[in-house]
Amino acid sequence: MRLKKDLARSIRRGHPWVYRDALAPAPELEDGAVVEVLGKDGRFLGIGFWDRRSPIAARMLATEREFDPVRGVAERLAAAATLRLARLELAQTNAFRWVHGEADRLPGVHVDVYGDVATVRFDGAGARAFYGDVAALLGAEQRIGVKRVIDREARGVADDRVEVRENGLIFAVDLAHGQKGGLFLDQRENRAEVGSRARGRRVLNLFGYTGGFSLYAAAGGATRTDTVDQARPAIAAARRNFERNGFSVADERAGFHAVDAFDFLERARRDGVRYDLVISDPPSFAKNRAGLPLALKAYRRLHTLAAAVVAPGGLLFAASCSSQVGRAEFVASVEAGARAAGRHFTLEGTRGAAFDHPVVPAFPEGEYLKLAIGVVR
Ligand SMILES: C[S@@+](CC[C@H](N)C(=O)[O-])C[C@H]1O[C@@H](n2cnc3c(N)ncnc32)[C@H](O)[C@@H]1O
Repeated sequence: MRLKKDLARSIRRGHPWVYRDALAPAPELEDGAVVEVLGKDGRFLGIGFWDRRSPIAARMLATEREFDPVRGVAERLAAAATLRLARLELAQTNAFRWVHGEADRLPGVHVDVYGDVATVRFDGAGARAFYGDVAALLGAEQRIGVKRVIDREARGVADDRVEVRENGLIFAVDLAHGQKGGLFLDQRENRAEVGSRARGRRVLNLFGYTGGFSLYAAAGGATRTDTVDQARPAIAAARRNFERNGFSVADERAGFHAVDAFDFLERARRDGVRYDLVISDPPSFAKNRAGLPLALKAYRRLHTLAAAVVAPGGLLFAASCSSQVGRAEFVASVEAGARAAGRHFTLEGTRGAAFDHPVVPAFPEGEYLKLAIGVVR
């Protein structure tokens, strides 16, 4: 493949995508075919694999000519496993992201581990064809011990419920129907931080899904948790997760609300209900660049409502998983939201996704999760 745009520098720095419109007309190739990418000047830039239909025509694998795709993939899977296993105690946490695509130099494939089950997601037909029988490679990794591999595209056909551990807490995961493959693994470290700061606090978990943040808060000594998610099955699962871990759902210490988070906040504000720690982790508000202005407006409104129910001096944990929204813009929406509620937000710090979701600096598209933590006065 020969480039017609001058992308040599970005590819050499590790950017893993070549868009179709950056290429000189290319011959017809099969999905997954290994291609050599040449610069505008005809010089060798690297090796990638081909996708016939995606706007990303080639995903880069290496900048060395000698790269052997079969050996290379096996080695990178092993390296990704080593990285995870160096930091995770499987007896405590057996749900994690083994392969985070581009950042693990395995572009276009994501692998999540849930106990002895792995789920695989391919970004397009090119990746699916290139990686071929990745299940065999995953199963061969003795250190992780995967017994079954589920293709995320084919899910929904079977009842796939598994129980996993995360920092010693037990979660039931619905691999067949759950969002994002069952558990939002990227928030693991942020859930642990909430747990470590929840003692003696009343905690509100907005967009709480299956109760992850609430469960950590309860385990960390929160005096009360309220979990809000508009999805009824998620709230039912949150309740079951509490019970599974030995927390009562029958008293006033744990509330579960299958309602719209904005409505819940309006009512709480009106009724004078206040919390010492509020978590807001909504779904992505911007699907593409064009959606950005509306997304920023929605974040601001959400943060106004959320700040209003934080007791003076309490903590706000505000997250965004919209990759279109930058960290600074997002923090600004928290600050402006709080101000619109007549409050002040001081930023203590920001966090990102857990360590098993690494980021390539040359590929900022991969950095999507942001969490702003601060005090609301
Ligand atoms: C990013 S996920 C939250 C993940 C969760 N914090 C965790 O750690 O597992 C977003 C959740 O927001 C819920 N949701 C979307 N719109 C909502 C709304 N308007 N009100 C309440 N929940 C909503 C979805 O059902 C989904 O469970």
